[in-house]
Amino acid sequence: MANELKLLKVCKNGFAQIRNFHRTAPIFADKPKNKKFSIYRWDPEHSGQKPYQKEYVVDLNKCGPMVLDALIKVKNEMDPTLTFRRSCREGICGSCAMNMDGLNGLACITKIDSNLSKPMKIYPLPHMYVVKDLVPDMTHFYNQYKSIQPWLQRHDEVEVGKHQYLQSTKDRDKLDGLYECILCACCSTSCPSYWWNGQKYLGPAVLMQAYRWIIDSRDTSTTERLERLKDSYAVFRCHTIMNCTSVCPKGLNPGLAIAHLKRLVVGLEKKPNPEMDPVALHNK
Ligand code: SF4
Ligand code: SF4
Ligand code: FES
Repeated sequence: MANELKLLKVCKNGFAQIRNFHRTAPIFADKPKNKKFSIYRWDPEHSGQKPYQKEYVVDLNKCGPMVLDALIKVKNEMDPTLTFRRSCREGICGSCAMNMDGLNGLACITKIDSNLSKPMKIYPLPHMYVVKDLVPDMTHFYNQYKSIQPWLQRHDEVEVGKHQYLQSTKDRDKLDGLYECILCACCSTSCPSYWWNGQKYLGPAVLMQAYRWIIDSRDTSTTERLERLKDSYAVFRCHTIMNCTSVCPKGLNPGLAIAHLKRLVVGLEKKPNPEMDPVALHNK
């Protein structure tokens, strides 16, 4: 018992020291590292107001290292009216996608440029309608995603949910690099073709998901899916500029997926037959 009490005391002292270290951390910090952020602002409720850039100064010694940390600091401590989306804070949800110093990316995993002489410029994703400040209107993007019917489809009449659909390891591997997309739209909104033809051209994010379902060995709607893409805009407005691939924060390659998709649409590539019969368990 005496030993346990001793241990508890040691732990308590340790925690107190850590707490005090955090409290006193600014004493050890160097002089302020003031960084300017020039942030796009527009509020639809102020009728007649045009969009403008507003500057905020953040001491980087008192802020986390990522752009989202600075935005949260500005909102919490300087200007609660600043509006932006965020959720996971670790590059998973895709909601903090925006344009920072000219590049699309996720604010939560993009480091603040430590060059203090240069303001960091932050805009909403380019060529999108804006809801408010840094929040783009994703309605059209989501409608385009819906149009490719992003779910598994089969033509047979097996009872759904009774057994799993089988897929070989090799067929499953074909989905790697595709299914990880978080639909942040960084790629589509960095694509010049999407900027100018976004109403009819589906853009890299949606096309990569179209390809993901087309090559899934368990899906049997391949013909219908390819048929829906057969026009001069949906796929063929991609001119292989590859902005999409260079900007993807998840390291995916939508440009390559579109290249395969084009070949499938015109019949230069064929979807291989599944290595395993997906409904083998149902037909036992
Ligand atoms: S490769 Fe195609 S989809 Fe990607 S940026 Fe270029 S035109 Fe857009
Ligand atoms: S492909 Fe990359 S950039 Fe495009 S939506 Fe998916 S995760 Fe975002
Ligand atoms: S907050 Fe979720 S990706 Fe940035």
